[in-house]
Amino acid sequence: MQKWTIKGLLDWVNQYLSEKKVDSARLGAELILSYILEKSRIELYTHFDMVVEKPQLDRLHQLVKRAGEHEPVAYLVGKCEFYSLEIFVDSSCLIPRPETELLVEKAIDFLRRQGQQKPLVCDLCTGSGCVAAAIAKNHPSASIIATDISEKALVIAAKNIAHHKLNDRVELLCGDLFEPVIKHVDKDAFDLIVSNPPYVSAAEFQTLDRNVKDYEPQSALLAGEAGLDVYRKIAANIDGHLKVGGAVMLEIGYSQAEAVTKLLEAAAAFGSIKVEKDFAGNDRLITARKCQ
Ligand SMILES: C[S@@+](CC[C@H](N)C(=O)[O-])C[C@H]1O[C@@H](n2cnc3c(N)ncnc32)[C@H](O)[C@@H]1O
Repeated sequence: MQKWTIKGLLDWVNQYLSEKKVDSARLGAELILSYILEKSRIELYTHFDMVVEKPQLDRLHQLVKRAGEHEPVAYLVGKCEFYSLEIFVDSSCLIPRPETELLVEKAIDFLRRQGQQKPLVCDLCTGSGCVAAAIAKNHPSASIIATDISEKALVIAAKNIAHHKLNDRVELLCGDLFEPVIKHVDKDAFDLIVSNPPYVSAAEFQTLDRNVKDYEPQSALLAGEAGLDVYRKIAANIDGHLKVGGAVMLEIGYSQAEAVTKLLEAAAAFGSIKVEKDFAGNDRLITARKCQ
């Protein structure tokens, strides 16, 4: 019987996934093999000639077949990386995107500049808890209340918050946007409100890649006909939750800057409303500071 080395397998999986038109095939091959062999990606390269045994080969085949059908590799291996943190995921939550790191970066920057001793942050639509975990990890005096409407997603968020030892500073609540927060904090309590809400329009949903459309939860993606439903609800309720001098930061779709700006202008006395671009040059973040 043919013996399969790590090198041979990496090449074979890469070729198989490339033929199936899976994005980032080589990276996918490395992540699946790392997971099966319980080795880091670097260790795969330092053990190139290691022969892989039959039980592991069988498991590898199963996962590679599913990846070839465009099931996201992060779901297959149960985790991904976000803001240099290991984040567990499953099919009940969105896989954190690199674009969302901009929201985290600007949030940490704002908290540092604001200089509050113990800032209180609200993360709406927390999903896997990636944004809350990354902010809390990088701003050790911040406390965060994170909400999501999906109980299943919050099970994963709880696993991530515990994994990063943040239980004493990140509280997870289940419910519709601010609704579960009301019993827990006073009016105008937050120094910063962040959110990466669902923002895909009905038309855009049809154009999404198979790995997104067929596998990620629709409730994490879709937000009504124009993709603005959740922003509308956030804007309608934000004034009573944000301190004067506090900020709101919302991730947006590339074509939504104008519409979300208008919603915020009508929502509260925001001094300036700023739109920022992601690394691909697309509008990605709206930041507004409450001035009175
Ligand atoms: C785009 S995902 C973002 C997840 C995570 N914050 C991230 O950046 O990867 C949106 C999340 O919003 C949640 N969600 C949708 N509608 C909601 C609502 N009305 N209230 C609270 N959470 C909601 C979904 O369950 C999903 O987890």
